[in-house]
Amino acid sequence: MEAVTDSPSDGMRKLVEGAADVLHDKVALSVSGYDISQDEYDALVRALLDEVRAAGINKAHLLRPDNNELHSEQVQSRSVFDVVAFPYRGSTGLGPTAWVPNSLPMRKRGTLKPNPRSDISMSPRLARVLLNLSGVARGETVLDPFCGSGTILAEAFIRSIRCLGLDSKSSHVRDARENLQWLIGSSVDKGYDIRVGDARELRKMLHRSKVDAVVTEPLLLPRLEARPKTRTATDLIGQASDIYGDALSSMAEVIRPGGRIVVVVPVIQTIEDEEVVLTLEGRKIGLRLFQPGPVGFQYPVRLSFESTRWVRRAVYVFESTA
Ligand SMILES: C[S@@+](CC[C@H](N)C(=O)[O-])C[C@H]1O[C@@H](n2cnc3c(N)ncnc32)[C@H](O)[C@@H]1O
Repeated sequence: MEAVTDSPSDGMRKLVEGAADVLHDKVALSVSGYDISQDEYDALVRALLDEVRAAGINKAHLLRPDNNELHSEQVQSRSVFDVVAFPYRGSTGLGPTAWVPNSLPMRKRGTLKPNPRSDISMSPRLARVLLNLSGVARGETVLDPFCGSGTILAEAFIRSIRCLGLDSKSSHVRDARENLQWLIGSSVDKGYDIRVGDARELRKMLHRSKVDAVVTEPLLLPRLEARPKTRTATDLIGQASDIYGDALSSMAEVIRPGGRIVVVVPVIQTIEDEEVVLTLEGRKIGLRLFQPGPVGFQYPVRLSFESTRWVRRAVYVFESTA
């Protein structure tokens, strides 16, 4: 997906022009909106229809996805041209949805595993997004030093990536091992190693060996029943910052040169309508922010899905300059 930063109608025109060949074969159109208002969504749908008609394509009809988000099953099962829309640098980012994973088996992996641990687990979908951002490839090794119930490791494992997990709680290590074992069945090659350990002491734990990628979500903040005051949110983020900072330094010591570190951080929405973000700094420890292309990410990148009500997830992607 490529982000477009012009006005929505200009952006839509460019998108449709660029996709004219594909569009002639499509029978259905849709817009998937993330974090945009209903008015903006409706305007984008009108712009899409206008541009498609202006391009002389008359046979395509519009799909209206539930909650303005197209489900992956719809993308996979129909010949659909879907435009994804999201807030971007004060405007709306637009891009064609090029591919979506099949979410059914992913959902099953999330709910049927022996220890789903809904109190700490992230969804397989989020784990997959984070692994994609890390660029880790088949046969390489990924480390999750705050592995909890092992969701990131499980998604890596099924893509033939070797998995190393740590957690400070032995009960979580046991849960993660059982979840991975359930996934691999009777296969002899385990391909994973999950141990009790402290994410702040990785060099010691790994005996100076290096990993190709680190993908992790260090802490969940206490569940908030309402938006906190900005001062309370600042205190909560401040309390979490030390462990994030220490763990990031520790990760920087075990990542191979050029390898990436993907870390989820919390963003709290406050009663004063402000955002308090946990920020990370990597320059002094040999890390730079990963930029995938000419448009660039603004860090931390907000994830518009799967946030608990007042705490959102955002993500940093660093790469090692060592
Ligand atoms: C948010 S959970 C991770 C959840 C995981 N992504 C999953 O899907 O299950 C964070 C985990 O970090 C562990 N943890 C907290 N402090 C740690 C430390 N210093 N070193 C290693 N693990 C730690 C907790 O026990 C918890 O299991």
